[in-house]
Amino acid sequence: MSSDPSEVSGQAPASAEELSAETREVIAYYDALAPTYDTNRFGNSYGAYLDGLERRALREWLQGPRVLDLACGTGRFLDLASEGLDLSEKMVERARERWPGRRIHHAPAWSIPAAAGSYDSVFALHLFMHLHLGDIRRVMAECRRVLRRGGVLVFDFPNALRRRLVRYQATGWHAGTELMTWDLKMLGGSHWRLTRSRGLALAPVHRLPHAARPAFMAAEVVLGRTPLKHLASYYLVRLEKVD
Ligand SMILES: C[S@@+](CC[C@H](N)C(=O)[O-])C[C@H]1O[C@@H](n2cnc3c(N)ncnc32)[C@H](O)[C@@H]1O
Repeated sequence: MSSDPSEVSGQAPASAEELSAETREVIAYYDALAPTYDTNRFGNSYGAYLDGLERRALREWLQGPRVLDLACGTGRFLDLASEGLDLSEKMVERARERWPGRRIHHAPAWSIPAAAGSYDSVFALHLFMHLHLGDIRRVMAECRRVLRRGGVLVFDFPNALRRRLVRYQATGWHAGTELMTWDLKMLGGSHWRLTRSRGLALAPVHRLPHAARPAFMAAEVVLGRTPLKHLASYYLVRLEKVD
């Protein structure tokens, strides 16, 4: 499933039979969405708003030249990475069209076809919200394996506190997993140190007039770093591998 399995070592990618029915459902969804994903999700002012906030934090937080974009989708952030990985064949196809020459693996996030210590940074945007806690643990363990000591893992997740406050109830796997920052200890144990966290989408972006969104984005960059971040829709965190 890797882009070039002969060039990499590490665990063998899981075969399709080893994937759960739910994982196959998630991937079928993204296979079908691949042709329209970019315009559908990020070709509007809401998408541009999120993309701007996420991109800014990634630029600040990532380190080193060896950077993996985990669940890279169509390659929205592959300009910030040296390699990508995704389990949807159709998303990988589009990412490879967009980024010819980049190594883009076709594999599950918990089975990265790379040797231990291969990366300085790994980031995963809009992935953990689709995974059960057991799978998040597996992905974090795999990221720990492929990162060098001191390497960083950056990812986002829906903020459980905000959801409770606004009485939001997720249905199904799509953005179904929500967390609080203290859950990270339970998921990653003592192997990680939380070095940065930021709130994303503090304002109810979809309710803001389109013309007002760029101005709000500037305010969010500042407010997302204050204690108000605990009220944002999403958290973005940066963990450092300590052992
Ligand atoms: C919402 S998209 C995000 C894509 C990209 N990170 C972005 O922010 O534009 C979620 C991506 O996760 C991928 N994905 C879902 N489950 C996965 C898994 N278990 N292993 C690898 N990729 C997975 C999907 O195929 C899809 O491309």
